[in-house]
Amino acid sequence: MIKHCYVHIPFCSSICSYCDFPKMLYEKKFINSYLDSLKYEINYKYSGDILDTLYIGGGTPSVLSIDELEVLFKILKIFKLSDNYEFTVECNLENLTLDKLKLFKRYGVNRLSIGVQTFNKKYLDFLNRKTCDTSIIKSAKELGFDNINVDLIYAIDGETLDELNSDIDKFLSLGINHISTYSLIIENNTVLSIKNIKPIDEDIDFDMYNLICKKLSDNGYNHYEISNFAKDGYESRHNLSYWNNLEYYGFGLGAAGYINKTRYNNTKSIFKYINHNYIYEIEELDKKSIMEYEMILGLRKIKGVDMALFKDKYGISINEAFKISELLEKGKLIIENGFIRINPRYLYVSNDILVSFIGDV
Ligand SMILES: C[S@@+](CC[C@H](N)C(=O)[O-])C[C@H]1O[C@@H](n2cnc3c(N)ncnc32)[C@H](O)[C@@H]1O
Ligand code: SF4
Repeated sequence: MIKHCYVHIPFCSSICSYCDFPKMLYEKKFINSYLDSLKYEINYKYSGDILDTLYIGGGTPSVLSIDELEVLFKILKIFKLSDNYEFTVECNLENLTLDKLKLFKRYGVNRLSIGVQTFNKKYLDFLNRKTCDTSIIKSAKELGFDNINVDLIYAIDGETLDELNSDIDKFLSLGINHISTYSLIIENNTVLSIKNIKPIDEDIDFDMYNLICKKLSDNGYNHYEISNFAKDGYESRHNLSYWNNLEYYGFGLGAAGYINKTRYNNTKSIFKYINHNYIYEIEELDKKSIMEYEMILGLRKIKGVDMALFKDKYGISINEAFKISELLEKGKLIIENGFIRINPRYLYVSNDILVSFIGDV
């Protein structure tokens, strides 16, 4: 029984200088054929499972017009949702409107994830973001959306700790229950990489990460995943399904899914996608790989991996499956209350820790 589902809408009203997500500029002529093909893909693969979480991401789902959103949400009606479902739509300040929020409400959306990124005009321009006017977030709250995430990007070329500090204050003043933070990555084939922009100095990045962790924790946000912070009870259940290594459907351009011990990625070519050539690659997992995923994903959670559950699932304990005794002795990994987790002091280098007992991750 698969309980989680991701649906990708790849269109955006402008392209940010850093983004390498599967996305393209909104073009009306593509929307109908995209949604037709999406409907076909969903109807073909979805086998009626009752979903706990449904996540419509992008790209920018909120770029679609009201009429196009009506078509999309009618397609999504096929999904059966559990009584206590979480239904998220990713939005951009640039194109989220009151009418779109009302439509989301009417179709049962109960969580919004909104890209804000920064309030600093200089860095907004650098990122090619068009606005940081958050008045629509106030409207969303007035309409009854209390489960909202905002994305924050930091470690932007030239950014100082003081600038980040005042950005965080502005994020805090939004009174939002969830904040996802992203250290800017200069991805290949983005405007930033073409301009040869270099990542910020690692020491500054580390200080910035610590500042974020401290300030958000001091303000009542639980640091529950390396880069994610939430008020009690507002952790993203959908993203937790990934970190708990659970199976999920992935539909749409470039979407990833995990079904029947097989991970797959859809094509990133819009032409292939609208011609129903959905799958780009498939990875069938053996038990060893599944256990590795369980650790790679699970150790992103601050709470760590439930050791009894691991043994239950795989018939072998974590200590037997992985060579971790040295990491435990050095205090890089900690066992407490039946969970194994990364020592918070080493979270910043979590990747190095994973590499040391799993290999390339
Ligand atoms: C698909 S986008 C979010 C929704 C919406 N499209 C938007 O941008 O407002 C997911 C998030 O990933 C983060 N992100 C994307 N590319 C990144 C990069 N190269 N470095 C750091 N964060 C990145 C941004 O914070 C972005 O909001
Ligand atoms: S960050 Fe969001 S809005 Fe910007 S290009 Fe990527 S998906 Fe589109």
